[in-house]
Amino acid sequence: MTVCPTLETERLVLRPFKDSDFEDYLSMVHSPEVRAALRTSEEEGRAEAWYALAAFAGQWQLRGTGMWALEEKNTGNFVGRTGLHNPERHDWPGVEVGWTLHPDYWGLGYATEAGQEAIRYGFHELSQERLFSTILPENYRSQAVAKRLGFVVIDRRYLSHFPSEPHDIWALDKQEYLSKFS
Ligand SMILES: CC(C)(COP(=O)(O)OP(=O)(O)OC[C@H]1O[C@@H](n2cnc3c(N)ncnc32)[C@H](O)[C@@H]1OP(=O)(O)O)[C@@H](O)C(=O)NCCC(=O)NCCS
Repeated sequence: MTVCPTLETERLVLRPFKDSDFEDYLSMVHSPEVRAALRTSEEEGRAEAWYALAAFAGQWQLRGTGMWALEEKNTGNFVGRTGLHNPERHDWPGVEVGWTLHPDYWGLGYATEAGQEAIRYGFHELSQERLFSTILPENYRSQAVAKRLGFVVIDRRYLSHFPSEPHDIWALDKQEYLSKFS
């Protein structure tokens, strides 16, 4: 199976996670802003964050999909995660493009820049015909990223891993993507 490749965009390196990223990763996912956006429960602490990180890294080995660590080229700083998420859930729509940045790096265009590269990889290297994104209806910043990348809402439904609120299901078809961006 494909291991996580290292890719580059204009301002970012998309690379495999390292164990030494963990404190920066924790500071991102435990920031009040990210916890609020993702509705992270109070019970989720260091151990749960580490397991999530390990699962993202392991997904590359098992499925050839997963999250990249995002590194800012001009500083080497860890700024967030973006990738292709395809967990084993019966009602998951398919390969999802996901993005989360440390709040210090919001408002710079990094999620859209990394998302573009993840989409290119999903269509061209993984031969997907349709990519998805699952976003809570109140998550306006994430919706703005999805719109900039060309996704449209195709459904709103409850997902089994998050039964308290419905998610919007956003989709981007390869043909639509090629007609707009190639
Ligand atoms: C969702 C999230 C990744 C979006 O981050 P973001 O910084 O708003 O999105 P982008 O990286 O695409 O940046 C876009 C902004 O950068 C600005 N920008 C500045 N310089 C830019 C540049 N060189 N190129 C592009 N955009 C630039 C854009 O104008 C835009 O600003 P605006 O927010 O005022 O409209 C971030 O809010 C986050 O991590 N949220 C918590 C986790 C989360 O909700 N994840 C998604 C779950 S579905």
